[in-house]
Amino acid sequence: MADGNMTLQQARDEAYGQPLDQLDPAQPRLFQADAHWPFFERLRKEDPVHFTADSEFGPYWSVTKYNDIMAVDTNHEVFSSDFMKGGITIGGGNANFDPLPMFIAMDPPKHDVQRKAVSPAVAPPSLAAMAPQIRERAAGILDALPIGEEFDWVDKVSKELTAMTLATLFDAPQADRRKITYWSDVVTAIPTPGGLVETFEQKMEIFGEYQAYFNGLWNQKVNAEPHHDLISMLAHHPATRNMEPREYFGNIVLLTVGGNDTTRNTISGSVYALNKNPDQYKKLRENPALIPSMVSETIRWQTPLAHMRRTAVRDIEFQGKTIREGDKVVMWYVSGNRDDEVIDNPNAYIIDRERPRTHISFGFGIHRCVGNRLAELQLTIIWEEMLKRFPEIVVTGEPKRSFSTFVKGYETLPVIIPTRN
Ligand code: HEM
Repeated sequence: MADGNMTLQQARDEAYGQPLDQLDPAQPRLFQADAHWPFFERLRKEDPVHFTADSEFGPYWSVTKYNDIMAVDTNHEVFSSDFMKGGITIGGGNANFDPLPMFIAMDPPKHDVQRKAVSPAVAPPSLAAMAPQIRERAAGILDALPIGEEFDWVDKVSKELTAMTLATLFDAPQADRRKITYWSDVVTAIPTPGGLVETFEQKMEIFGEYQAYFNGLWNQKVNAEPHHDLISMLAHHPATRNMEPREYFGNIVLLTVGGNDTTRNTISGSVYALNKNPDQYKKLRENPALIPSMVSETIRWQTPLAHMRRTAVRDIEFQGKTIREGDKVVMWYVSGNRDDEVIDNPNAYIIDRERPRTHISFGFGIHRCVGNRLAELQLTIIWEEMLKRFPEIVVTGEPKRSFSTFVKGYETLPVIIPTRN
């Protein structure tokens, strides 16, 4: 049962009050309550590569320290992402669900050629071409915000900007942008009574509409001249143009979720973090040149994807533990980013750190986030436009957080903008 009200002290008592071998950090209720921290703190100290025998996701290993996560993430020969083995999330391999092929959940060589097919869409020349449009949209969104009146930042700003960018990447009509956001949310939603989707069947029905929509875009693009958008690239590139429809859909799901929740939750996270740390907000206002390092610090502090999962393809000795072929291995980025052996004072939010890009939120190795520069660009632009307009954005209550061990995000964040500059 979801419980958003757990205090940090209760979480600490729970984390330290049970036998170590029973510790199970993969509980969505902990993440929803922002109460997962003591679980990982204990694991980093007492059992950094930890086996949980029994959990709602079955048995799994937790890798909790920065350098160990890097070691797993860069060893794709042993730690596979293959969707047929369970893919890249702790819940993957669920017997109810026929796994979707997508390149984040593939190993070489297929992963590499499919990644190459889409990466020009988010490479520096494309980003330079997109930047003025992102700025214009950010300005439009911010200029329309109410002054002196409470509203939900997630809905009015974070979702809007990322939805517009995503529709551009797909060359989909802007009028459909919020449909795409909705589908992205449905992908990551855990069916729960009263939740965004209540049953697995409902989720599959919505997937049907989602797939039909993107089949329509493919049909338009495949018969037109090649164009510089993601669908056209997939429809015309030799490595992807003959994909099975299911594989095309899988890659659409990847690009939708990859480009959406993560950036959106970092935009919301930046407003929240700066409010929790008024000295840092002041520093930023006084020196807007700090925006890029504030963006990186927020990406570390927020860790928009809490984990990626791998499956061992053979037995391996790792940090004194024996991981067996077929075992599920979870790299907890959310924990690696708080590892004080690599990051000084890691629980603090400090926007002018010496090496702000030292974080593990984008992963490492062959699957390292392909959209990282696009995410940073959107965040940088929106903050440049925000500082020009508003002396302060005031968070007026606690956010409602996602019920998920994967997406670390915000469903709502109430704010008020007292005045314009
Ligand atoms: C992969 C995080 C934004 C597209 C990943 C991975 C992570 C990640 C952790 C897997 C890395 C690994 O397994 O080693 C993030 C975060 C973002 C973000 C934190 C924002 C702050 C974006 C954006 C896009 C995107 C804007 C837009 C296209 C992808 C894709 C992959 C990926 C396609 C798969 C890469 C591969 O398998 O080779 N991302 N991402 N991401 N991301 Fe992002």
